[in-house]
Amino acid sequence: MSAGIGTAEDVAAEAARRRTFAVISHPDAGKSTLTEALALHAQAIEQAGAVHGKAGRRGVRSDWMDMERSRGISITSSVLRFEFGDTLLNLLDTPGHADFSEDTYRVLAAVDGAIMLLDSAKGLEAQTLKLFDVCRHRGIPVITFVNKWDRPGREPLELLDEVEQRIGLHPAPLNWPVGIAGDFRGLIDRADGSYTRFRRTPGGATRAAAERVPADRAAAEEGQAWVTANEELALLEEIGAVLDMEAFAAGSCTPVLFGAALPNFGVSALLDTVRRLAPAPSARTDAAGHARPVTAPFSGQVFKVQAGMDRAHRDRLAFIRVCSGRFERGATLTHAPTGRPLATKYAQTVFGRDRSTLDAAYPGDVIGLPNASGLTVGDTLYTKTPVTFPPIPAFAPEHFMVARVKDNSRAKQFRRGIDQLDSEGVVQVLRSDLRGDQAPVLAAVGPLQFDVFTARMADEFGAPVELSRLDYTTARITDKESAETLDGRRGVEVLTRTLDGSYIAVFVDKWRVRAIEREHPDLTLTPMLAAGVPD
Ligand code: G4P
Repeated sequence: MSAGIGTAEDVAAEAARRRTFAVISHPDAGKSTLTEALALHAQAIEQAGAVHGKAGRRGVRSDWMDMERSRGISITSSVLRFEFGDTLLNLLDTPGHADFSEDTYRVLAAVDGAIMLLDSAKGLEAQTLKLFDVCRHRGIPVITFVNKWDRPGREPLELLDEVEQRIGLHPAPLNWPVGIAGDFRGLIDRADGSYTRFRRTPGGATRAAAERVPADRAAAEEGQAWVTANEELALLEEIGAVLDMEAFAAGSCTPVLFGAALPNFGVSALLDTVRRLAPAPSARTDAAGHARPVTAPFSGQVFKVQAGMDRAHRDRLAFIRVCSGRFERGATLTHAPTGRPLATKYAQTVFGRDRSTLDAAYPGDVIGLPNASGLTVGDTLYTKTPVTFPPIPAFAPEHFMVARVKDNSRAKQFRRGIDQLDSEGVVQVLRSDLRGDQAPVLAAVGPLQFDVFTARMADEFGAPVELSRLDYTTARITDKESAETLDGRRGVEVLTRTLDGSYIAVFVDKWRVRAIEREHPDLTLTPMLAAGVPD
């Protein structure tokens, strides 16, 4: 690939071999284990000790804050890159804790597909449902992996039924387990009927011993488990549970695979499915509704801004998803919101905790730009032909606090910290003339966001804060005219978001919203994207 680097053909070919995706799951379903298993099967490009065996697993997670470590939660995101045959996989990490769903949402704005990971004993759990809603909202195609099949769990047909009934996603199993959960023998590939038998290897964290077994031998050796699996397969044919690629791309059908990440059963089939079925980066629609093809000059969108990711790099890193064109380190990009030029001499890749210099990137890749002050989540960057991508919508906050600086002599640091953490999306910052800038309202999806805010205000900005709770639970997007009607009513307050100046009405409860809506049906009260089950 020496000639033609950066040409439309080069960019199209590089984009076509990329798969940029995330794993969505409930905590404990096995996301870390699966990530390690994927890295083991594929070839992790940046080895650098970032993907450890089970014992060193915490090493994959960032340790930028003691809080994060002590609570065993991962707040920061990173990107893992694997090579699988000719395919290049970018796996974007999402925070594990439900309180940081908003971060997850931003990461999901940067992927082309997702793996929905289910625990075979638990099926669809709360956090998976929420995250799936985000995928649905963004039209992200989802591949389902039913994990922990080596442990007692539920019936496979029952799990499929749950996916269909609860989230309306038509399941199309690509393989089928022989042996019930807990007595896992192997997988039948539905495409060609071939049977792969698994045997546990001592220690688990290595490739499972997988053996292709001809059907007649399998029938003799697996006994009743084989008969049952084949009866179930016949039933699947009868009900037409087959993959419809169009429906998959539209987000209404999900290919389903069974396996167990820990003993490495069925992980290569999952990788192969991601390679074959997950969409490659494609044209992105800009804010004006025009599609920008991947071969257009460079464009990208900031989906995350993270400061102080670890002690060795106490800086501010903007994560940019490449949407079109070839990125070259050193190129000057234009920052769409301000028209200002942006230097990229220090562009990096971010792999687990490790960073290395990035020289070039293609659609689907993620660039880390350190010390890129002035970059906010959602910002577009481009070269040559201008473009602005639609903003990444914010989740509806459900928790509200008033923040005040403890020591008035730190007022300047307080304001700087507030602006910074607002632009990173650590919390949403709302204000009103009545409250003034010395007492902004912080809005969050999960209360842990306030802990991160408080810790960082003290540690990074030297401005310890005092938070006091407000009794609001619900927010709606409103406008100036409606704000005039709402002002002064009991149980409602209208604030403006500092980031974009939009009007947000906050209410003590949903009943108050409904009562006001009934009384004034002409008011603008638009629900925000719900982090949880819709109101
Ligand atoms: P998470 O990132 O989604 O939170 O889950 P994680 O991978 O940490 O897995 C949660 C637990 O489930 C871990 O056990 C892990 O070993 C186990 N697990 C994951 N995949 C499988 C599987 O396919 N089969 C079986 N049997 N177990 C699986 P733990 O005891 O909670 O964690 P640890 O203390 O062993 O690290």
